[in-house]
Amino acid sequence: MIELISQQIKTADSILLSRQQIKKRVMELGSQITRDYNKKNPVLICVLNGSFLFFADLVREIKLDCEIDFLKISSYGNAHSSSGEVKVHKEPDCRLNGKDVLVIEDIIDSGLSVVYLRKWLSKQTPKSLKFISLLIKDEAASVEYKCEYEGFHIPNEFVIGYGLDYAQRFRALPDIHSIKV
Ligand code: IMP
Ligand code: MG
Repeated sequence: MIELISQQIKTADSILLSRQQIKKRVMELGSQITRDYNKKNPVLICVLNGSFLFFADLVREIKLDCEIDFLKISSYGNAHSSSGEVKVHKEPDCRLNGKDVLVIEDIIDSGLSVVYLRKWLSKQTPKSLKFISLLIKDEAASVEYKCEYEGFHIPNEFVIGYGLDYAQRFRALPDIHSIKV
């Protein structure tokens, strides 16, 4: 399977979103968030692992004095099919009570992670709680969810690159590729 994917990513037509498209959208989202959180000091939470590159690029486009934190969840039973179960492996370190919290996700697929995280983080009674996801697979949603900031709506295909993996591989690719698995 890894061999097959390696073949696919060598062809330019596997690129779904180029690094230039991603960069432009990240800058737009950063400006929007900077305006919306004007005079606020939000806590920006990176959902590991998939969001690490998007997060690193986005926080530098948010021209505010922010707190940065990380949480780690897993929602997938194996490389490309959901177990339907969300587990928290690392909680944020900072206290979220009374803060403006913005959670940064790589992709919304079934929607289960976002629904779980919103409920779980709400328990810490933040002043506000919003989500941003770089990618949204509308057709894959199995639950109703809310996401305040959306990067790109994409077809229901498996994607890798720019932080997203297949079995922990391919995260470092600078473009986002759609692959057949
Ligand atoms: P959800 O809970 O089904 O919405 O899944 C969200 C998580 O599944 C994301 O944060 C990703 O880690 C992973 N995921 C979903 N679709 C893909 C994909 O196409 N490529 C890589 N990871 C994915
Ligand atoms: Mg992942």
